[in-house]
Amino acid sequence: MTRSRPPAGGATGSLVLVARAYGGPEQQALVERDVTAPGPGEVLVRVRAAAVNPADVKRREGLFGTTRTPPVPLGLELSGVVEALGPDVTDLDVGDGVVGSPRPGAGAFAEHTLVRRRDVVPKPAALPHDVAATLPIAGTAAWDAFHQVDPGPGRTLLVVGVGGGVGDLVAQLAVAAGTRVVGTGSESKRARAESLGVTFVTSGPAALAAVRAAGPVDAVLDLAGGEALRSLVEVVADRASVVSAADPTAAVALGGRALVRGPDVLADVVAAAAEGRLCPNVTATYPLTRAAEALAQVEGRHAAGKVVVLPGA
Ligand SMILES: NC(=O)c1ccc[n+]([C@@H]2O[C@H](COP(=O)([O-])OP(=O)(O)OC[C@H]3O[C@@H](n4cnc5c(N)ncnc54)[C@H](OP(=O)(O)O)[C@@H]3O)[C@@H](O)[C@H]2O)c1
Repeated sequence: MTRSRPPAGGATGSLVLVARAYGGPEQQALVERDVTAPGPGEVLVRVRAAAVNPADVKRREGLFGTTRTPPVPLGLELSGVVEALGPDVTDLDVGDGVVGSPRPGAGAFAEHTLVRRRDVVPKPAALPHDVAATLPIAGTAAWDAFHQVDPGPGRTLLVVGVGGGVGDLVAQLAVAAGTRVVGTGSESKRARAESLGVTFVTSGPAALAAVRAAGPVDAVLDLAGGEALRSLVEVVADRASVVSAADPTAAVALGGRALVRGPDVLADVVAAAAEGRLCPNVTATYPLTRAAEALAQVEGRHAAGKVVVLPGA
């Protein structure tokens, strides 16, 4: 990753991580950009924390489309402090904490970014920024996934990839609702999963037999995709009870369903976290100058819980 400045004569800048072109991690660069005044319906936020998602890597690679002309700012979920308000935003004050997503194309791995007022909710004071930043994407995805796939109290949900950002939160929601959870992941994920009440199975060729040995499975949530999904769908009789967030095309081909994102649930998810009903597992934090390392950790596909970038740290 490089750090570059705008051409001579550029205004004072604020750092943001961008993809200079669609492609691999070598395209990432920390650059300066002008701090822009918020327009109607917008808020300027000083970012205190921004969490990393597999979607950041997919966006950088152009898997979500390449219509936006690079440089493409990266980062999709954040927590921060209001620094300026658009002319028509009257229900927030400068200095308020907010949690949500940046305006499309604005990026969250940044010292400052613009958000649309409708895309953020107030951050409860008791919720630390690093924890709050994990909720707009991973938290709401876990919420939606749980409500889409939950087989109900006393029944069994298999979570493929239980140790990651979404899986950890789904396990918490399911166990709290009385659903029995079996989860797969690499052995390093066992202790955390078991502490949540998950029956843990090490991923790999022996996983299918081990899941079967753990008892009947009523529904599957796939957060890993590929071969892990293809081999483990065998555990359910009804393929319609399989939902995938990681590999929706494969899931549909196998008779299952893609994760469906519902109406906005961020306020509910933030309230659950503030009340301690949902406890995101932040396992690593990096200053903005080391954001590339944070993305590399998630790009390696074996991250534990949530990796968070802390601008200003
Ligand atoms: N549609 C949406 O709105 C939406 C929103 C959020 C996430 N997603 C997608 O959902 C997926 C999961 O997201 P995430 O944020 O939880 O990702 P993550 O934090 O990277 O977690 C994925 C987990 O899967 C585990 N894993 C990898 N290969 C596995 C295998 N063969 N068997 C079992 N576990 C395996 C990984 O580590 P170990 O192998 O070391 O256990 C990792 O813990 C991603 O594909 C993401 O893009 C979609």
